[in-house]
Formats: sequence, structure tokens, C-alpha cells
Amino acid sequence: MIIAIDGPAGSGKSTVARLCARQLGWHYLDTGAMYRAVTVAALERGLALDDGEALGRLTSECPVSFGYVEGDPLPATVAIAGQDVTAAIRTAAADANVSEVSAHAQVREACVSQQRAIATDRDAGNYVVEGRDIGTVVFPQAEFKFFVTASPEERARRRSAQNAERGLPGDYQQILDAIRARDAYDSTRAVAPLRAADDAVVIDTTELSIQDVCARIVDAVQRSGAAADAAGAPLGSAGGAGA
Ligand code: DC
Repeated sequence: MIIAIDGPAGSGKSTVARLCARQLGWHYLDTGAMYRAVTVAALERGLALDDGEALGRLTSECPVSFGYVEGDPLPATVAIAGQDVTAAIRTAAADANVSEVSAHAQVREACVSQQRAIATDRDAGNYVVEGRDIGTVVFPQAEFKFFVTASPEERARRRSAQNAERGLPGDYQQILDAIRARDAYDSTRAVAPLRAADDAVVIDTTELSIQDVCARIVDAVQRSGAAADAAGAPLGSAGGAGA
């Protein structure tokens, strides 16, 4: 069974998706981490970021894998072609280039086929899958679809507070401008633009806590009986996602 959680950067969807996976005891797939891993590999190899063919080949030839620690259903590490990139995918260089890399149809095709293989592996159990196009493109047949969003101003406020905590530059206006630019780019790109699936439940988190959002999602799943059906799913059997 699949819960698709899509939404823009800063909407809180990652935190929500991780918390839901923990509460339900389901696996978690961060598809943004996959595009980030491809970006890191492309930068390291000095590939031109406007060369969709070369980047598509790289994505097909260098599968992304996730590493787990005993007893935790959430992955602890990310690797591409066996090379650990857990820290590298969160750097400013990855941030600055991932939109361009992930906009290529060839990259998306190769990433999407890896995502489908990981989350539908026979031994994989149930997955919370987080991204931008999970409910629309990757798993249009997902049993549950949520689109988590928040106003650009609230997302900029959250990002600026997060940056301040990490000692990173946190100018609110600059962050707000960057968020607006990224939204425009992601939602108007030719391939798999960011948008809510017609049958997704849209949750605006502007005035909600992470716990409230997660409770709504977990409630919806539990009310449907799916969580109970899933109780026997093997956790920790990482299937295709295992490193
Ligand atoms: O969620 P994130 O910020 O880690 O995502 C990084 C980038 O990857 C972001 O620019 C959008 C892109 N992405 C995508 O195009 N499709 C996905 N399913 C996930 C992420």
C-alpha cells in the first residue's frame, strides 16, 4: 500500500511524511533525496547540467540506494552507485542545482522507474512516498494521496528560522523571493510539474502544527482499515531500497 505525500519545499511535507511513517510503522521513500543524489553525482563527474541525455544515462547506470539501521524503518543513509552521499545531498551546491537536474525528462524517467521498483518490491511492505509528482505520475493508483502546502510567506518564515538555527544565512525577503521563484519553476516545468492530483486531499499547513497534519493523515489511513491490514508487513526488510 502507498501513501503519496506531495507538496512544495518548506510546506512541512518531509517532516510530516517521516512522522506518519514512524507512527504507522511503514517504510518511507524520500524521492527528493534521489534527485539530489543524481545532482551530486553529476557535479562530481563534471557533467553539463543542461545535457539531459548524459544525465539520464547517469541516472540509469547509477542506482540510488538507502541504508537502514536495525529496528528503524526510516533510512539513515543515501548512496548512489554505492557511494555514500548522505551529507553531500544537503549542501548548497546540491540545493542550487537540483531543480535543473530534476527537470530533465530522461532523469525523471530513470528515477521514477527506480522509485516504483523500490516501493512495490514484493518484500517491501507499505510505503509513505514523498515528493512532487507521486500522486500524479509515480503512483497515480496510490491508495492515499495528500498534497501538503503552506503560504509562501509561512514557508519562508519556517526556512528562515531553520537557517538561523543552523547558523546559515536567513534573510527573510531573499528566502521568500527564492521560494516564489522555485514554485514558479517547479509548477510550470514541462515534465511532471508540481500540482495536486485531482483526487488528493489538500492540507494547508499554514496554521497547523506538524502533529495536527500527521494526525489527519494517520486517522484517514486508520479509518480505512489499511493500517490494520498492513500490521503484518515486514519492517526493516528494505527490499529494493536496501543498501
Ligand atoms: O524535496 P526536496 O527539496 O529534497 O527536492 C529536491 C528537488 O527535487 C526539488 O527541486 C524538486 C525535485 N523533486 C522532483 O522534481 N520530484 C520529486 N518527486 C521530488 C523532488
